[in-house]
Amino acid sequence: MPAQIDPFHAIGVSHLAHELKGQGASIIHMEFGQPSTGAPAAALAVAHRVLDSEAMGYWESPALRARIARHYQDRYGVEVEPGRILLTCGASPALLLALISSFEPGDRVALARPGYVAYRNTLKALSLVPVEIGCGPESRFQLTAAHLAAIDPAPAGVIVASPANPTGTIIPAEEMAAIAEVCRARGIRIVSDEIYHGLSYIEPARSMLEFEPDALIINSFSKYFSMAGWRLGWLLSPAAHAPRPRTYASNLFLTPPSLAQHAALAAMDAREELEGHINVYRRNRELLLEALPKLGLREIAPPDGAFYIYADIGHLTNDSLGFCKQLVRDTGVATAPGIDFDPVNGHRFIRFSFAVSTPEVEEALRRLTPWFAAQPQLAPAS
Ligand SMILES: Cc1ncc(COP(=O)(O)O)c(C=O)c1O
Repeated sequence: MPAQIDPFHAIGVSHLAHELKGQGASIIHMEFGQPSTGAPAAALAVAHRVLDSEAMGYWESPALRARIARHYQDRYGVEVEPGRILLTCGASPALLLALISSFEPGDRVALARPGYVAYRNTLKALSLVPVEIGCGPESRFQLTAAHLAAIDPAPAGVIVASPANPTGTIIPAEEMAAIAEVCRARGIRIVSDEIYHGLSYIEPARSMLEFEPDALIINSFSKYFSMAGWRLGWLLSPAAHAPRPRTYASNLFLTPPSLAQHAALAAMDAREELEGHINVYRRNRELLLEALPKLGLREIAPPDGAFYIYADIGHLTNDSLGFCKQLVRDTGVATAPGIDFDPVNGHRFIRFSFAVSTPEVEEALRRLTPWFAAQPQLAPAS
């Protein structure tokens, strides 16, 4: 029987938001983690030139692989052979390729709950078994070495995400080192999703590659590089492992879009423009962290990175999806329901994405303030 996987409920909220927009409503899209800024100007200029001059066949850019390899040296001080890098249509296929090339059907793979919806669903689609570890505010919603040491029997793998979706929390360097050590000792293969690297408001996130050279690393041009719709990312594998995902990729996907690869190479040097986006997110984060507690949303872990705030709304509802739908109908502010990230406790959380402009955040807060004030409180559970 094909694996049963759950829908991505934020897409349903987004459809509703677009429907309301079609009826004339003013909508602020805070449901998806996608920058509203578009690709850097230098990337667009290259794309225009390439469109007029190249036939664009199947292709994986050697220059882009070399540039990504240099990024690991510059940013993390780790030397990487360009041949270890596989260009993919975003982090999503990179995740699929990492899992399919590392594990056998029936293998158990640990992950934090809450976590990105596609981890659980991709594992299930590949007949792998998610071992969800409930992570609360005490570990800032992140997996720890102690969690991984306690799973009995040891899982075949673990998916680590720092900064994480939906909370934006970062795993500190000492904990990353401890996780790597436990995984080495117990034979647990690490898949590290580093898609939010570059987007941090405290110290920069460290790569798992610094602690575990055999980890598989996923990254993408969708977030920091503001190129979600260009569909480009990469998988970095240990040298001995790299041919396996490459063989799967050439059968399943051939190559990623040529145009995106040309543009992405230019984007990697558009630091000034991209750092400007982070200043906007930093301001948005501050505005929300200051305003949300005044709306009664006090249970939030301030995000260290990414562009999300995961907020406890358990005093108002037990149905985060219904809550998000009502919220967008009444105010035009679209958010993601916690059930996408946590099937156990997510009914009492929502996620705000602040990858929008600061005036949009300000307008959202103007609308949310009276709306939250008017919401009846649930009786505390006895
Ligand atoms: C944690 C995480 N990983 C992977 C992805 C997939 O990103 P993409 O396929 O656009 O690179 C997302 C998208 O939001 C995400 O939040």
